[in-house]
Amino acid sequence: MPDLSNGLTVWFTGLPSSGKTTIAHALEKRLLDAGLRVEVLDGDVVRTHLTKGLGFSKEDRDENIRRIGFVADLLSRNGVIVICSAISPYRAIRDEVRELHDGRFLEVYVSTPVDVCAKRDVKGLYAKQKAGEMNGLTGVDDPYEPPLTPEVVVPTHEQTLDESVETVWRALHS
Ligand code: ADX
Repeated sequence: MPDLSNGLTVWFTGLPSSGKTTIAHALEKRLLDAGLRVEVLDGDVVRTHLTKGLGFSKEDRDENIRRIGFVADLLSRNGVIVICSAISPYRAIRDEVRELHDGRFLEVYVSTPVDVCAKRDVKGLYAKQKAGEMNGLTGVDDPYEPPLTPEVVVPTHEQTLDESVETVWRALHS
C-alpha cells in the first residue's frame, strides 16, 4: 500500500456534468477524515483566478490544464494529495502533466456518457448549446479524447456516489 502522506495528484477527467467535482469533494472529505493533507483544484474555481481570462479554444484549454498541472505538481511533491477536477479534454496535455509528476499521478476517467450528462445538465450548458446560445461544448460540438489507459474508470451512470468514491479510494490504496 502506498504511503499517501508522500503526496499524489488524483486527476479527474470527463465531460461536463459527468460527476468529476462531486466525486472529487466526496473523496476530499474521506481523505481529510483520514488525517491527510488535501487540496482540490477545480476547473470552474481555478478559472476565476489562476487561469482567469482563458477561454475554451484548444490553446486556452491546454494552457488551463498546464497551469493546474504545474500547481498540482508543486503541491503533491510536498506531501499534499491534490485532487484536480477539470474536463481536460485533450490527451496529449494530460499526458504531459502526468510526465511532469514523475509517478505521483493517478488518472481517473469519469466515463459518464454524453446523453446521461446532458440529462443531468448541472449548469444548463447542454440546454444552452441545444438552443443555439453557445457553441464549442465539450462532447457535443467540441472534442473530448478519453484516456486510453487511465488508472481508474468511474462509470457514474452505473454506480452510486459512494460506489464511485470507493472505486477511487481502492485504487489509491492498491
Ligand atoms: S477545460 O476544458 O479547460 O478542462 P474546465 O474544466 O476548466 O475546462 O472548465 C469547464 C467549465 O467551464 C464548465 O464546467 C462550464 O462551467 C464552463 N464552460 C463554459 N464554456 C464551456 C465550453 N464551451 N465547454 C465546456 N465547459 C465550458
